[in-house]
Amino acid sequence: MRSPRFENKTALVTGGGGGFGREISLLFGGEGAQVAVVDVNAGAAQETVDRVTAAGGRADAYIVDLTDADAVAALIAEVVDVYGQLDIAVNNAGIGGAMAPLAEYPIDTWHQVLDINLSSVFYCMRAELAAMVAQGTGGAIINTASIMSTIAMPTISAYVASKHAVLGLTRAAAVEYGSHGIRVNAVGPSFSRVGFTAASLDDDAQWEGMAAQHPLGRTARPLDVAGAVAYLASDEAAFVTGHLLGVDGGYINQ
Ligand SMILES: NC(=O)c1ccc[n+]([C@@H]2O[C@H](COP(=O)([O-])OP(=O)(O)OC[C@H]3O[C@@H](n4cnc5c(N)ncnc54)[C@H](O)[C@@H]3O)[C@@H](O)[C@H]2O)c1
Repeated sequence: MRSPRFENKTALVTGGGGGFGREISLLFGGEGAQVAVVDVNAGAAQETVDRVTAAGGRADAYIVDLTDADAVAALIAEVVDVYGQLDIAVNNAGIGGAMAPLAEYPIDTWHQVLDINLSSVFYCMRAELAAMVAQGTGGAIINTASIMSTIAMPTISAYVASKHAVLGLTRAAAVEYGSHGIRVNAVGPSFSRVGFTAASLDDDAQWEGMAAQHPLGRTARPLDVAGAVAYLASDEAAFVTGHLLGVDGGYINQ
């Protein structure tokens, strides 16, 4: 039997209480990693922890608002203290924000989307990279980007800008930290009926229409995203860095 890919590894997953983050946490926990489940929503994070442990894995919840840079630095220090190391970090927390044409886009929402989708990823990477360099054993960072990292859609300018920037940050870190054995990649999911996306679009007919726009005939499932994240975190991707792995059923190729 193949041994679990992440035995004796510590994986941190932000937005671990959400649709993608829960599935990512379950996959890592099921393949031997100890998982730090980070979310601002305590109940959701605890539910993920309960599911990982019910499946025989180890996980702990960390309740942090990732827009607070000091809190993020303290979080990473605590995770390293508790587990002794940080091998894998998945910066996945994010929000959609309001939908409006750019000329009418609310300025407070612009800042909120950029704070959570971009600045929090910077704060996390800043602390994660420092911890990984200090421990000297390399590491893997995976950021949840989006199809909106390379294309756009009307009414979500802040989201599009934030996800383009997450890809830029991913590439910048990859070229800076490769010499430390740290790989930095991103996943680019298309539409998935979970979390804030499901909340903002609750119409079966529209979701069917969305599925039809994908060459593979459906929208993304959390397990599609978790599988791509796990690949990028694994030794199978040992020579992959600075890459955006689309998880979009061919959506952006048409
Ligand atoms: N669902 C989709 O269609 C889709 C498509 C492409 C990319 N994404 C991206 O995937 C990621 C996960 O989204 P999801 O679909 O699982 O949504 P979700 O709403 O289920 O999960 C997001 C999680 O992030 C947490 N979070 C939000 N702000 C936070 C903060 N300040 N501090 C800590 N935690 C915070 C939320 O509590 C939530 O649990 C996001 O980055 C999103 O942009 C989603």
